[in-house]
Amino acid sequence: GWKMEDVLDEEIKVIQGKVGPEDHVICALSGGVDSTVAATLVHKAIGDRLHCVFVDNGLLRYKERERVMETFERDLHLPVTCVDATEQFLSKLKGVVDPEMKRKIIGKEFICIFDDFAQRLERDLGKKAVYLVQGTLYPDVIESCPPPGSGRTHSHTIKSHHNVGGLPKDMKLKLIEPLKLLFKDEVRELGRILEVPSAFLKRHPFPGPGLAVRVLGDVTEGNALEILRQVDEIFIQSIKDAGIYDTIWQAFAVFLPIRSVGVQGDQRTHSHVVALRAVTSQDGMTADWYNFEHKFLDDVARKICNSVRGVNRVVQDITSKPPSTIEWE
Ligand code: XMP
Repeated sequence: GWKMEDVLDEEIKVIQGKVGPEDHVICALSGGVDSTVAATLVHKAIGDRLHCVFVDNGLLRYKERERVMETFERDLHLPVTCVDATEQFLSKLKGVVDPEMKRKIIGKEFICIFDDFAQRLERDLGKKAVYLVQGTLYPDVIESCPPPGSGRTHSHTIKSHHNVGGLPKDMKLKLIEPLKLLFKDEVRELGRILEVPSAFLKRHPFPGPGLAVRVLGDVTEGNALEILRQVDEIFIQSIKDAGIYDTIWQAFAVFLPIRSVGVQGDQRTHSHVVALRAVTSQDGMTADWYNFEHKFLDDVARKICNSVRGVNRVVQDITSKPPSTIEWE
């Protein structure tokens, strides 16, 4: 491995060399580890010429916007503007069921918002944004556009990660991707050096397209997103309470676009099915499903069915990657 202190110094120099004295930089903050570490690094390199934007695309987890904005302001002292684009995203996603199509639409909307943000910066403050920071990691690069000689070609692209393959060709902003050669554990180490709070660095990865890849099918159908948020929150909180959050690479719930028959009280129900997924992994490239204790699963399933209206069945995903991917779409 590399020494992360050296990587940091090197990256800071590269960014300072690249960004001209009159240039401004926009950073898309997702609230995840990668974009937060990338923003903190760029902030160190160019100070207040960095302008962060956090987009509420309506595909965030339970209370995520409030929680994340508070951390940015209170603990990280990063200058962040929050844009509420819920309607903009959800209206574009209405009726769309193809997973790749969903990813492409979301990637495109993000870029529209960043372009808008850049225009406003120039019009209102006379600051010219030239670059966009993205927290792209090495595994994202490999899986979206495999390098030559890796044995994969573009036609075998597994998924268009929104921050790599999904970007439109006509985007005006140029990219800065300071983490592009790093794996997740290296990014966490970089974050420690940059004094990003450790609770933040331990957060499980969350995909750019958000809950859109965890509601199978049309994300705007019924109250799928709201149900998923409640189920996911119960699952994650239970994992934290059990003291096993840090031993899991990633855990989340998935909303399935089907109904099953159940019985609650003496009433027949015809309600939604949710799946629970938890995996261990080193870098997200391969993963093993996480083996919970029976008691834990039993408690979580009961809690979900008892407290989330519209759910009468909980299943667990017991596949590893490969043959599955971590996300369901
Ligand atoms: P998969 O599902 O491909 O996921 O096995 C591997 C890791 O990548 C995350 N992931 C994404 N991250 N934008 C991201 O920033 C995306 O479009 C995206 N898709 C998947 C996933 O959560 C897992 O950690």
